Amino acid sequence: MRIDVVTIFPDYFMPLALSLLGKASAAGLIEVHIHDLRTFAHDRHNSVDDTPFGGGPGMVMGPQPWGEALDEIAATNNALRPVLVVPTPSGAVFDQRMAQAWSTHPWLVFACGRYEGIDARVAQHYAGRSDWAGVREVGIGDYVLAGGEVATLVMVEAVVRLLPGVVGNEASVTDDSFAAGSMAQLVEGPVFTKPQEWRGLEVPEVLLSGHHGRIASWRAEQARLRTAQMRPELAAGTHGLQH
Ligand code: ADE
Repeated sequence: MRIDVVTIFPDYFMPLALSLLGKASAAGLIEVHIHDLRTFAHDRHNSVDDTPFGGGPGMVMGPQPWGEALDEIAATNNALRPVLVVPTPSGAVFDQRMAQAWSTHPWLVFACGRYEGIDARVAQHYAGRSDWAGVREVGIGDYVLAGGEVATLVMVEAVVRLLPGVVGNEASVTDDSFAAGSMAQLVEGPVFTKPQEWRGLEVPEVLLSGHHGRIASWRAEQARLRTAQMRPELAAGTHGLQH
């Protein structure tokens, strides 16, 4: 998978060289390109923002540098159509199902807005371009960040760990909380490792039994209990119906 990120803070993406994502890059499973939006601004101060039409607080990122940056990125590969992802708190909320859908795309381009956001014509323009595979305006939760950079890191990590070969043990991806399949819309229950007793607390007996059937049903029951307790809206089966 190819991943491009356009930002005014390229240093935010240094964590992509670490851990799981760094290994995925080193193994050639992902190819990441970070672009500084300011290099596509042409005035003396390399400015990328301006006051909003209609008035109001803050600044809005102008369409010109975005258009040049995205066109230049797309022109580097005419064989593939990129999906444009625009992180914004006003977007649909990102979830595991979206991560799974995106993990099948060959090319994602993330446009990280700052200030009050990006001029709305940018998303509109690329949604209408047949050489692009669409635009996804998405938020990572109901809170406001200072910009799209952290949201992009979150989404990249959620997507990349689903790519074949990135996580060593395939089952750790299919058994995830929210994963599609039998455990869908349940969070995972508690997990334990050695020692068997720690500060007077014992590991549940059933996990030591070696009885795979009983262990599986205990885990399923724990997942149901945990979901009901921590995520009642999931337990009620109402979550995700809007998709
Ligand atoms: N930019 C600012 N807040 C955001 C959020 N919650 N999700 C995605 N992008 C954002």
